[in-house]
Amino acid sequence: MSEILKIIQDRHSSRVPFDRDHRPSKQDIMQIIEAARFAPTAHNMQNFEIIIVDDKKQLDELGKIKSKISEDFLRENYQQLSFSEEELLQKKVGILGTMFPESWRTPDDWAKVARESEPSSLDQTIKGSPMLLIVTYDARKRAPASEGDILGFISLGCVMENMWLMAQELGISFQIMSIFGGNTVEQDVKKILEIPEYMRIAYAIRLGYPVSKPSKILRVRRDIDGVVHYNRFGNRDSLKES
Ligand SMILES: Cc1cc2nc3c(=O)[nH]c(=O)nc-3n(C[C@H](O)[C@H](O)[C@H](O)COP(=O)(O)O)c2cc1C
Repeated sequence: MSEILKIIQDRHSSRVPFDRDHRPSKQDIMQIIEAARFAPTAHNMQNFEIIIVDDKKQLDELGKIKSKISEDFLRENYQQLSFSEEELLQKKVGILGTMFPESWRTPDDWAKVARESEPSSLDQTIKGSPMLLIVTYDARKRAPASEGDILGFISLGCVMENMWLMAQELGISFQIMSIFGGNTVEQDVKKILEIPEYMRIAYAIRLGYPVSKPSKILRVRRDIDGVVHYNRFGNRDSLKES
């Protein structure tokens, strides 16, 4: 197997607590940023600014931010869940419901569940990470004629993947935290980090080293046959040898 394919397959989301006192080295972080710098972006816009947060006071301030779960998240999250490993293995997409509190996995009046859920603080998401990368973009610009700035968002995804693969190669654990770009949280984060109003947060990344060995996580993917079509949509033949 090619080396790059192995790194791609081994890359994974690390949701376990990290060692607060073990920060990735400057040299490693600069390689991760270098990987971001060379990501493909629509029109070569390089439409990202990355804020590296390693100051303990700043991390503490971010950790105090509170967020409430939304009704939309609860409803749409529920639709994507599997309720057993067998179900997930069979579906091959989505995630395991056990990652979430019981009330999020029981179909109910989602508005009521959202209303009654306790606000949680961001330190429950940051989980001891000694370093965060906050990826921001200038919302006033877009790739030419790109409706809804879809090309800009794809570009930010390329930046994400380049950094993630570099971190994987360096043995640094990595988790995306979309919540940093969520409505009320985004405003609070922007205040603490003095991010200008016109910039938006695309996502944040927690980097570090797990405090304990993470348990094996079930990772599923669709089969190649389920993903590709040959020469026309719906044709599931197979690729001819060249
Ligand atoms: C745009 C995007 C947003 C994501 N947001 C989150 C997130 O907020 N929290 C999280 O734990 N994982 C997040 N993920 C990670 C996915 O859940 C994860 O990649 C997927 O479940 C596959 O698992 P793997 O990364 O271990 O291969 C995000 C991934 C992408 C590409």
